Amino acid sequence: MSSEEQDLGELSDLAREVATRAGELVRIGRAEAIGDIGTKSSVSDVVTAMDTACERFLIETLAERRPGDAVYGEEHGRHAGSTGVRWIVDPIDGTVNYLYGLGDYAVSVAVEVDGVVVAGAVSRPSSGELFHARRGHGAYLDDRRLHTSAPTGLDVTLVGTGFGYDATRRTQQGTVVLGLLHRIRDIRRMGSAALDICYVADGRLDAFYEWGLHLWDYAAAALIAAEAGVDVRRPTTEEGLFYVAAPTISAALLAELESVIDPQWNVAR
Ligand code: IPD
Repeated sequence: MSSEEQDLGELSDLAREVATRAGELVRIGRAEAIGDIGTKSSVSDVVTAMDTACERFLIETLAERRPGDAVYGEEHGRHAGSTGVRWIVDPIDGTVNYLYGLGDYAVSVAVEVDGVVVAGAVSRPSSGELFHARRGHGAYLDDRRLHTSAPTGLDVTLVGTGFGYDATRRTQQGTVVLGLLHRIRDIRRMGSAALDICYVADGRLDAFYEWGLHLWDYAAAALIAAEAGVDVRRPTTEEGLFYVAAPTISAALLAELESVIDPQWNVAR
C-alpha cells in the first residue's frame, strides 16, 4: 500500500469513528437537548442545543487528532486550515425528526483533500447503522457492500425529496411534486437529505432530489451514492438541484423533473 493510500485509509477511519461517536452523543443526549431549542432561517428551521454541542465535539475532536485541517460545519461555520484537508460536518441532519423522536436523523462527516471528497460517513444513531465510503473503494452499510437499485421504468420508481425552510421555495417544491406524482411509483419525504441519499445507495429509494441543499447535507452521502453506482448530479449554484438516481431511470426522471419546473422559477442545475 502506498503512503498516500495509507493516509486516505486513516482519514476514512477517522471519519467513521467521529461520525459514530458523535451519533452516540446525539442519541444519548436527546431528552435534555430537545428542551433547549432555537430557530434559524424560519420558525420551522430549528436548532437544538445538541446541534451546537455535537458540532463543537466534532470540531474539537478533529482539531485534536488532525491539527491544521480545516473544518466546515452547519452551526459554527468555517475554521481555516493549512494542510489541504477539509472536514465537512453536519452535526444533526434531520433536526425536525430528532425533535419529534422520529428515527431518521443523522450525523454526516465528509473529508476533502485539495477540494475532492475522498471519504464520508453518515451515522443513523437511532438504529446504530453507519453508511460509509472511500473514493474508489465502494460504499458500505456497516460491513455490507451497497449497490444501487435498477428500476425498469418511472412507474416503478420510488422517489425521495425534501423541502427547504423558505415558504416560497416550499410552494414551488410542492408544485414539482404535484407534476411528478402521477408518473412515478410514489414519493417519500423522510426528513434527512443525508439519509435519503444513502437510501438511494442502498436501494431503499430509487432516486432523490432537492433544490437548495447545503454542502454539509450531501458531501458525505453523495460519495457513498456514487460509490454504490448511483448517478449523482451535484448543484452548480447554491439554489441548484441536487439529484441522485439509479442509472436505469436517471435520464428519464431528470427529463420529467425539468418538464414540470415553472420557467419563472429561477433555479439552475
Ligand atoms: C434538512 C434536512 C431535510 C431537507 C432540508 C435540510 P437539517 O437539514 O436534510 O431533509 O429537506 O433541506 O435543511 O436542517 O435537518 O440539518
